[in-house]
Amino acid sequence: MLNTEIVTVDKNRPEKDKIKIAAEIIKNSGLVAFPTETVYGLGGNALDEHVARKIYTAKGRPQDNPLIVHIYSLLQLDQLVKEIPSRAAALMDKFWPGPLTIIFYKKDIVPFGTTGGLDTVAIRMPAHPVALELIKESGVPIAAPSANISGRPSPVCARDVAEDLSGGIEMILDGGPASVGVESTVLDLSEEVPMILRPGGVTLEELEDILGRVDLDPGLAPGEKPRSPGQKYRHYAPKASMTVISGSIEHQVKTIRELAEQMVANGSKVGIMATAQTRHRYTKGYIISVGDRTAPLTISSNLFTILRKFDRLKVDSILAESISEEGIGLAVMNRLYKAAGYNVLKV
Ligand code: TXA
Ligand code: MG
Repeated sequence: MLNTEIVTVDKNRPEKDKIKIAAEIIKNSGLVAFPTETVYGLGGNALDEHVARKIYTAKGRPQDNPLIVHIYSLLQLDQLVKEIPSRAAALMDKFWPGPLTIIFYKKDIVPFGTTGGLDTVAIRMPAHPVALELIKESGVPIAAPSANISGRPSPVCARDVAEDLSGGIEMILDGGPASVGVESTVLDLSEEVPMILRPGGVTLEELEDILGRVDLDPGLAPGEKPRSPGQKYRHYAPKASMTVISGSIEHQVKTIRELAEQMVANGSKVGIMATAQTRHRYTKGYIISVGDRTAPLTISSNLFTILRKFDRLKVDSILAESISEEGIGLAVMNRLYKAAGYNVLKV
């Protein structure tokens, strides 16, 4: 067991001495969890195959699920990738630093251990001063999957990371809650029409503004084979069984009320994931509002926290409302469907 140190850092002006200590750990092939604007990452030297193996072990993650490589400056990109397509340059210009991950053909310096055996590498520049300072000070690009045990909801604060990874990593940098709350958008530019392999913080609509037509990987639908290796695994799952209710808001509320009533009558502990607009309409079960339907970022930033909260409350079942799949809603609903194992009730 490692003694996992939790170090609080100033989000906007990360203290140099603290970043230095964390960077030393990375340089010495250790693991540091750190905040990004999306979720917390579990970071290690991306150029060291041995470190990639350590990351997989700490997370309990299958080795064919490739890691995202994080950079702090465009100067690091040439070292890692064979070519930079012009469309990628336009996207980097607009969205980096930010929640967009782009797939490139990798150079030999990037080990297959980091890319899960693929000849491509996923790269992103996070929009978080602590992440950027850590990468800079480490002197190497940092491979970082979300800092959760594989399959669990992604971590959006240091406490979530500690819950999953304490004893398995050297350090957690605590820079407060993540603002976006769902992971980055993973984008493949290898075909004529760009394809979203994982919806995330940068929206489909924002990408279409720059690129024209953008497709969503049809493999993201239940039962299909996704193109991004990580997407095939069960994800984000709370311990309770979970059902997503979809349909008009009125129908959703009516159905959830009825189901909750039956479940509670049968002695079951029920959690309801409601919204600011609907929470007052429920009376049975543990009712939690995930956020405001008119401000979907409040929902994305709360989503994983609430899934973990239901775990702590030890509910048996979760009934979750749906939101519109516009904007960041697409990523929110993708995470909810996966958390529920695609157990969706259309009403
Ligand atoms: O927001 C994020 O992206 C967070 C923070 C920490 O930066 N990181 C993150 O990493 O979500 P992870 O490892 O949990 O998810 C990486 C996703 C997986 O679905 C993986 O399959 C996909 O990116 N991916 C990575 N490299 C790929 C590649 N070369 N080709 C296709 N998909 C790739
Ligand atoms: Mg993850």
